Amino acid sequence: MSGVIVVGSQWGDEGKGKIVDFFAEHADAVVRYQGGNNAGHTIWHGDTKFELSALPSGIVTKGQLAILGNGVVINPEALLAEIKEVESQGVTVENLIISNRAHVIMPYHIALDKASETASNNRIGTTKKGIGPAYTDKISRVGIRVADLIDPEIFGKLLKEYLPFKNAQLTKLYGEEALDYNEIYDKYVEYGRQLAPYVTDTSYLLGQQMKENKRVVFEGAQGVMLDVDHGTYPFVTSSNPTAGGVMNGAGVGPKQIQDVVGVIKAYTSRVGSGPFPTELFNDTADHIREIGHEYGVVTKRPRRIGWLDAVALRHAVQVSGLTKLAINSLDVLSGLKEVKIATSYTYKGEAIHHFPASDTWFQGLDVNFETLPGWDEDITDVTKFDELPINAQNYLNRISELLEVDLLSFAVGPKPEQTHLLRPVWE
Ligand code: IMP
Repeated sequence: MSGVIVVGSQWGDEGKGKIVDFFAEHADAVVRYQGGNNAGHTIWHGDTKFELSALPSGIVTKGQLAILGNGVVINPEALLAEIKEVESQGVTVENLIISNRAHVIMPYHIALDKASETASNNRIGTTKKGIGPAYTDKISRVGIRVADLIDPEIFGKLLKEYLPFKNAQLTKLYGEEALDYNEIYDKYVEYGRQLAPYVTDTSYLLGQQMKENKRVVFEGAQGVMLDVDHGTYPFVTSSNPTAGGVMNGAGVGPKQIQDVVGVIKAYTSRVGSGPFPTELFNDTADHIREIGHEYGVVTKRPRRIGWLDAVALRHAVQVSGLTKLAINSLDVLSGLKEVKIATSYTYKGEAIHHFPASDTWFQGLDVNFETLPGWDEDITDVTKFDELPINAQNYLNRISELLEVDLLSFAVGPKPEQTHLLRPVWE
């Protein structure tokens, strides 16, 4: 057992990148197993800030493999642009490895994502990066994989077969322009040529790594509540950010995993549409949004803000089998008179302790909160748990108690040196 999974346990943007980085520091490989360039990861390396969306966080750490697994969807144009960007920041990417089985986000996926969101008045509030349509084609067995992209003959054949259907959808359903075969073919064959040196069978490679007891970190994108199976469907992404996603999305077995770390923000945020039981619409939300810089890395949209939701988090503990908690952004709550945690909901007069499956339930839901005293102190320089104000300590302890999962770390700011461990990462 030499694998650790780091999963977002809310609606994404929990600060997974820096927790991944902690594990990555003493790891041999970092693997993304789902999602695509819809996920924004902000990571710090020394004083340099990297805003990644297509590359795995591990790319900036020398001497380890940074793997995009088969469960990821890849926008070659965005990936190549990001490679250039990090190279301009002094990072070399010879450690990048891309699965030959990962699916490619094609221009028609992006066009269809945009067209369907526009036509439905942003029903889901997607990132419009073509993620949903790319996964739809994967499941419908009309996707183009990286192995196909890097073979111009196969690529041309598949594109010729699929493009007319996509153009019919674009023009007849949405009244959009048709896309040109030759233009796509020429561009994508060139992308394939540039990406080919990084492509291999990543599941096989990981098998070898794990046989040698190498340490592997699996880096989730988005969060449990955006999981297509376990999240607030249909307001979800089209993949499995949960721990289960690792098995399929990286091609490893469950016995190769030693820990599943759930990353949590000390409050809750969400971008896009969908249920958010603890959402706040008051000054506290504005305060948290400003102090916490709660604007999307990818879309720059202001994030919706709310109190911590232990009902949703218990769901995350269950569906991902969380073994440890990493709690971020504790500093953002400093200065609030009191902090609240949702501990149960009431629906039609009855208390419910599990997260409802049906969207309609959220209309008549009452949220039951536990209120704890806040703290005033600036905690951004605190380095040890027992140096935190007692109310902040109590808040962290209460979260751990409600979720019945031990704390791994707490963070008092965005920089790596502001994340503090309560136990070693690789135990
Ligand atoms: P999609 O992943 O672009 O299809 O978007 C589906 C939903 O997931 C929308 O509500 C997005 O706002 C949300 N989403 C996708 N990626 C992220 C992320 O990295 N952080 C937070 N929300 C995300």
